[in-house]
Amino acid sequence: MTEVFVPVLRAVVIVLIAAAVLVGFVTAVRAEWPTGSTVPETFHNLTHPAQISPMSGMITNYGQVCVYCHAPHGGGGERPLWNRRLPSGPYRMYEGPLDMIADAQPTGVSRLCLSCHDGTIGLDDVQVAPVTHSGPGPHRETIERCTGCHNGGNPAGGLNWEHVWFRPDDMRKQHPISITYDASRDAGFQPASAVQAAGLVLENGKVQCATCHEPHSERYRPFLRIPNTNRSLCLVCHRTQPSQSTAHFW
Ligand code: HEC
Ligand code: HEC
Ligand code: HEC
Ligand code: HEC
Ligand code: HEC
Repeated sequence: MTEVFVPVLRAVVIVLIAAAVLVGFVTAVRAEWPTGSTVPETFHNLTHPAQISPMSGMITNYGQVCVYCHAPHGGGGERPLWNRRLPSGPYRMYEGPLDMIADAQPTGVSRLCLSCHDGTIGLDDVQVAPVTHSGPGPHRETIERCTGCHNGGNPAGGLNWEHVWFRPDDMRKQHPISITYDASRDAGFQPASAVQAAGLVLENGKVQCATCHEPHSERYRPFLRIPNTNRSLCLVCHRTQPSQSTAHFW
């Protein structure tokens, strides 16, 4: 997290905490869901499907949205505690030639995302459930289960989530992650300062899932930090359009 982003983050934090307080134990705002800019109005509000048959037997409704990711008492302005186990992989990472230096396995915030998105840990498998929760659960169904109905052949509820499951044994055709962004190693890339000025976040200088994604807002769906009109997001880093037209599932 760089200095430049501290004020922005602080604003985000205040908005998020205010939103959490305001919406408290309420569920989705149907009119805006899932393209709103607060967590309850996004696909990361797991209380929403948890209340709809048939998902009610798959996702525990903890009555509040942050707890699937953050510990119930982690508020108060400091970085909230993560409420999930971290996945252990091993991952088969991007294998194409790279000019910049990549970690051998996912690091940093990418592991937080993969604690749901790699399909090895149940969506409601939290470390600390809210004290207000009683009743059945956790059901420990993973994101792989969701893709069983929400797929191209038969998109349940019109939603196709085949591509939300990143199999750990094959991330070769996903955008490289956990890579130290260093434009001096590749003339095809914009300087890091320009990347950050455009609104993307290099976490400890690295490209991670949360470089392009902001998991609390669907203002720019799917959870993007900035719009991606005509692949404009790609050109924030790549000086010319990259060899693939999407960031995932090449
Ligand atoms: C689907 C998972 C998920 C949910 C649900 C979620 N968050 Fe987060 N949150 C994250 C991740 C991942 C990060 C780390 C982001 C990063 O480091 O870039 C984070 C970071 C934060 C931060 C710190 C900002 C930072 O980058 O240090 C705050 C504050 C926060 N979340 C508040 C909330 C609140 C309040 C809610 C509920 C209204 C919530 N979050 C719901 C995933 C989630
Ligand atoms: C608590 C589990 C959990 C965590 C942690 C999590 N996600 Fe998700 N995410 C989901 C689920 C489940 C879906 C499918 C939508 C749904 O069922 O609500 C989803 C959907 C998405 C989508 C597709 C949204 C759309 O509009 O179609 C994106 C993009 C995404 N997640 C990115 C991330 C990123 C990036 C992180 C980390 C910063 C992250 N997620 C962390 C559970 C999670
Ligand atoms: C057995 C098949 C099946 C599985 C597995 C399944 N779903 Fe669904 N899902 C459905 C159907 C059918 C609908 C449409 C129901 C409706 O609109 O009343 C739906 C709708 C949804 C919706 C949209 C609700 C709305 O208000 O429009 C979300 C979000 C959702 N599912 C999330 C999930 C998640 C997350 C998982 C994985 C834990 C999952 N589903 C697994 C069948 C399934
Ligand atoms: C370089 C930017 C970038 C990085 C890094 C990145 N994404 Fe994405 N992601 C995107 C864009 C852009 C989209 C929209 C679809 C597309 O263009 O591929 C997307 C789409 C998604 C989707 C929805 C897929 C679909 O087709 O519905 C999920 C889920 C997702 N990303 C999760 C992740 C996770 C988890 C990571 C880290 C392992 C990650 N992303 C890393 C840019 C990125
Ligand atoms: C935050 C900066 C950033 C953004 C935004 C970004 N990339 Fe990348 N991309 C990289 C880095 C860094 C590499 C690895 C470069 C190297 O080491 O050779 C890379 C490599 C790639 C590669 C593999 C090398 C190649 O060109 O074949 C593809 C494909 C790619 N990106 C596609 C995309 C797409 C599509 C988008 C937009 C959806 C995107 N990227 C957005 C930073 C970014």
